[in-house]
Order: sequence, then C-alpha cells, then structure tokens
Amino acid sequence: MMTTSLKTMICTAAMLTLGAGAAAAQTDEKLVVNGETEITTQAPAPAHLDGALDTIYSGWEFRSPATREVQMDDFDNPGMIFVDQARQVWNTADGSEGKSCASCHDDPAQSMKGVRAVYPKWNEDAQEVRTLEMQINDCRTNRMGAEAWGYTDKGMTSMVALISLQSRGMPVNVAIDGPAQSTWEKGKELYYTRTGQLELSCANCHEDHYGDMIRADHLSQGQINGFPVYRLKNAKLNAVHSRFKGCVRDTRAETYKPGSPEFVALELYVASRGNGLDVEAPSVRN
Ligand code: HEC
Ligand code: HEC
Repeated sequence: MMTTSLKTMICTAAMLTLGAGAAAAQTDEKLVVNGETEITTQAPAPAHLDGALDTIYSGWEFRSPATREVQMDDFDNPGMIFVDQARQVWNTADGSEGKSCASCHDDPAQSMKGVRAVYPKWNEDAQEVRTLEMQINDCRTNRMGAEAWGYTDKGMTSMVALISLQSRGMPVNVAIDGPAQSTWEKGKELYYTRTGQLELSCANCHEDHYGDMIRADHLSQGQINGFPVYRLKNAKLNAVHSRFKGCVRDTRAETYKPGSPEFVALELYVASRGNGLDVEAPSVRN
C-alpha cells in the first residue's frame, strides 16, 4: 500500500507529517462570490480520470472556514488589488507600436470572457500548446513591439488574473485531443513520475492522499482552476508554475523552469484533471 511507503519516506525526511487520514476534508459549504456568483467546486471527474478519481474538488474545499471566507467577497480578496493594477496596464500603451492591450482587445469583460477556461490551448499558427503567459508575451513582443515579461513576474501574474477573472464561474474545458494530445500525454507522464529523494509523484500526494493532513495542512487534489492564487503565506498572487516548482522542490528534486515545455505540458494535464470545475481566479489559499 502506498500509505505505508509514503509515510515512511516522509517521516524519514523529517519534514512532513502525514496524519491519520482525516476523511473528507472537503466542505459542504457552497462557494458564492459577492453573494451572486455561484462557483462549482466539486464535479464528476472527467472521463480520462476513470479509475483514478470519481469526483474532482477545488482546493477551496480543503481550506479552513476563515480562508474560504476571504474568497467569498471581492472587497476582502487581496488578489483583486492585483487585478485592478493589471486593468491599468491593460489600458496603457507600451512598446514601439504605441499600442495597449485595449487597442486590440477593447474591454476584457467581452474579449477575454471564457478564454481562461480553455487554456492551455493549441495555437495553430505557432504549432504549439500555449499557456496564457505565452500568449500574452507573444502579443507583447510580436504585436506591440514591447519586451516580454518574466514568466512569473508580478505584472504577468496580475494580467493572467485579470484575464482569468473574466471566466470566473465558467467550467474549465481544456482540449486534450487532436494536436494537443501529445503534449497532454507528456504532462500525464510527468504527473505520475516519482521524483527527488522522497520519490514522490504528484499523484502520490494529490490523487492518493487528498483530504489527509500534511504539515498541518489539508492536502487537496492540486487543481489549478483557482489560479492565479493569492496565498496568505506569501501575501502575493502565485502563478501555476510557481506552485509546481514549490511542490517539486518539496520532493527534494531539481525542478523545471517556469515556462519550460515540461511545465507547460504538466499545466495542460493538470488543467484537464479539473475539466468541469469552475474557474475561480483569483482564489485565496493559505
Ligand atoms: C496589435 C494588436 C494586439 C495587441 C496590442 C495585443 N494583442 Fe492579444 N491578440 C491579438 C491577436 C490578433 C490575437 C489572436 C492571435 C492568435 O490567435 O494567434 C490575440 C490573442 C490574445 C489572447 C488569446 C485569446 C484567445 O481567445 O485565445 C490573449 C489572452 C491576449 N491576446 C492578451 C493580450 C494582452 C494581455 C495584451 C496586452 C499586454 C495584448 N493581447 C495585446 C492582437 C493583439
Ligand atoms: C509531498 C506531497 C506533494 C507532492 C508530491 C506534490 N504536492 Fe502539490 N501540494 C502539496 C501541499 C501540501 C499543497 C498545499 C495544500 C493543498 O492545496 O493541497 C500543495 C498544493 C498544490 C497546488 C495548489 C492547489 C490549490 O488549490 O491552490 C497545486 C496546483 C499542486 N500542489 C500541484 C502539484 C503538482 C503538479 C505536483 C507534481 C509536480 C505536486 N503538486 C506534487 C503537496 C504535494
């Protein structure tokens, strides 16, 4: 059984404690933002997870009542400050072409509605799967004549949050077939590969042990429907790849770089494990 070996490895490393499986950490509470936007935080698992998971849960369900509550009102949610900053940037010209995002995309409430729900997404012209970050930098460099932003820089993550917000309450629905399939398969392989001194895969924690206690924390399914995530711990918005990096590090492994083909593939795969959950960005976690 995985439980025993996981416990042994974790205790040997003397860094994590896996408590007696506190069954079903998930809450019965509903996530309703601003008293009006109902967010789906649990859903039947997508078909490709057949045999692995029956139900998928947002990370929100595993947080404490106090943390959950912060996400229920945009005035309390500190992530919204970064969204407001990004809104200013959206309207500000930058680069040799003298254009802003708004020059081509007008109001993000219309032009970006539903976009986050289907990313990462295959781009036909570039013949690659693109994350939102990649697409934003493509617009900056090729259409605005501006410099690329750092993959997990504050400005980039804030812009991703502004765009993601326009899909809040819409179900994640990334495509995993057709031209995206080989990238998805690569991501799946990474998800199930054990790494580091602890020899743990993403699945060992987020599929086999969600709901259990680890470092005084409830382990979730590691879904990314809430990203970018405002973490109370570091008081900033966190990008998907920053979280991947942290989790890989926790297994004592060398990690891939944010924006690397490996993390892009992993993001597509992890996003697809959440197909059916609603986008809830910017979410709040501890
Ligand atoms: C000069 C016009 C122009 C500017 C300025 C511009 N974009 Fe774009 N953007 C485009 C075009 C054209 C596409 C479609 C490209 C494609 O499909 O390859 C696009 C696509 C996108 C998409 C993907 C939409 C989808 O449905 O998949 C996002 C996200 C995006 N842009 C964000 C931004 C942001 C953020 C900025 C400002 C930092 C920006 N763009 C600036 C022209 C522009
Ligand atoms: C040693 C156990 C462990 C492993 C292995 C691990 N994680 Fe995590 N992960 C955690 C813990 C603990 C948290 C914080 C609590 C939570 O949200 O589950 C977390 C959080 C996350 C979150 C944030 C979820 C949210 O709703 O905010 C994502 C996404 C994630 N992990 C993805 C991954 C991926 C992808 C891998 C494999 C590369 C991985 N994790 C490997 C322990 C692990």
